[in-house]
Amino acid sequence: MSKLWGGRFTKKTDQLVEEYTASIMFDKELAEEDIEGSLAHVTMLGKCGILPEDDVDQIKESLHKILHRIQRGEMEYSISDEDIHMNIEKALIEDIGSVGGKLHTGRSRNDQVATDMHLYLRKRVAEFVSLLAKLQEALIGQAKANIDTILPGYTHLQRAQPVLFAHHLMAYVSMFQRDIERLQDSYKRINMLPLGAGALAGTTFPIDRHFVAQQLGFDRIYDNSLDAVSDRDFIVEFLSNASMVMMHLSRISEELVLWSSTEFGFIELDDAFCTGSSIMPQKKNPDVAELVRGKTGRVYGNLIGMLTVLKSLPLAYNKDMQEDKEGMFDTVRTLEGALQLMAPMIATMKVNSGRMRQAVSQDFSNATDIADYLVNKGVPFRQAHEIIGKLVLHCIENGKYLLDLQLDEFTKFSKLFAEDIYQVLQPEHVVNARNVYGGTASNQVAEAIARAGETVGANQVWAEALMPKNR
Ligand code: ARG
Repeated sequence: MSKLWGGRFTKKTDQLVEEYTASIMFDKELAEEDIEGSLAHVTMLGKCGILPEDDVDQIKESLHKILHRIQRGEMEYSISDEDIHMNIEKALIEDIGSVGGKLHTGRSRNDQVATDMHLYLRKRVAEFVSLLAKLQEALIGQAKANIDTILPGYTHLQRAQPVLFAHHLMAYVSMFQRDIERLQDSYKRINMLPLGAGALAGTTFPIDRHFVAQQLGFDRIYDNSLDAVSDRDFIVEFLSNASMVMMHLSRISEELVLWSSTEFGFIELDDAFCTGSSIMPQKKNPDVAELVRGKTGRVYGNLIGMLTVLKSLPLAYNKDMQEDKEGMFDTVRTLEGALQLMAPMIATMKVNSGRMRQAVSQDFSNATDIADYLVNKGVPFRQAHEIIGKLVLHCIENGKYLLDLQLDEFTKFSKLFAEDIYQVLQPEHVVNARNVYGGTASNQVAEAIARAGETVGANQVWAEALMPKNR
């Protein structure tokens, strides 16, 4: 059989052109969505009296057969049929003859491919929300298991003030919550039907787009046919949301790399998530965290690539848009891999609370609290800051930490110091003193964990309802 669009042509396509323009090598990933869309389309053609029911039944039966062939991995694709749409249509015509040629009535590959992409991405968004919620659960699990653990909190990677390790982990839960909310919001713009826009202007057949949308579970249909076939904003938005998730994953990866170094020694990653060195027998490398950090680059690249493809395209469809696929598939794979590994890697890491506690007792991260101590006794904050600065300098010069000082050393700097200063300087006291909403005090963190538990439950419910198997 020759090309489905062969009529106007008198010459064979150049072999290199065929290879250059084909997309079947990668868009075969859309095979199931393509058939899902075709089934809805042909059902509508029958309902609207555009095709006789007999033809519709034959086409549907054959499409189901092709779907099973694809699912069993028995479908053979051919580059000369360019893309997934024509490969499937060709298989249909081979199976049932010229009746198969009626499927494409009132439709173009332009609205067809856009529909496939919407169907594909909405499944992925549900899966990503679910994976992100699982990661949140892993973080919350570690926060609960280490609720009393204190570590130095950092600014500029310099020890700043002690915080609960749980508080630190819950910061990531908040970050991933924003990612989830962005994905959920984007769903509105993904769950829209382009089909019925035809090549660009609509179709002369009396189709029913609302019926197709209903069958496919789309909440809305595109208002403008030109926009329907040329909109790739929803893909840009997905790539942007994926970039943000990767950026967050890369930040936590960096912390895991630092924390598992001998210098920090705060955590130990499970053997199952590390690799060794081919030359240095003592090494246990945090490769997964490093690779997640590294792969963030390609996801950003896919976003910039897509924005650049679209930036000067005139309406409506242009072949440039075929470039939307590889970056999107690559992003889906990269993000999926990172999320699938990050949750169990966090859940299984060993937290070395002794090392964290030791770090907190060998620094000046309680200095702010002595300043606050003086402020509570009436000293203006700026003046207190100056006094404590000198006190810290005194400590450094004498090789001491604040808790090592005798009371008479304290009182040399201010008469207001009394015995209770030793209590104030204890890391537990320092942490629990920050008893504001969103602060690191134990009761505040416990409440944050409880609130997050509910949110994560709601995230799972949202994702479950939209997961492919539940639609
Ligand atoms: N393979 C094409 C793509 O991914 C499908 C649409 C082709 N449409 C066309 N008029 N050539 O964009």
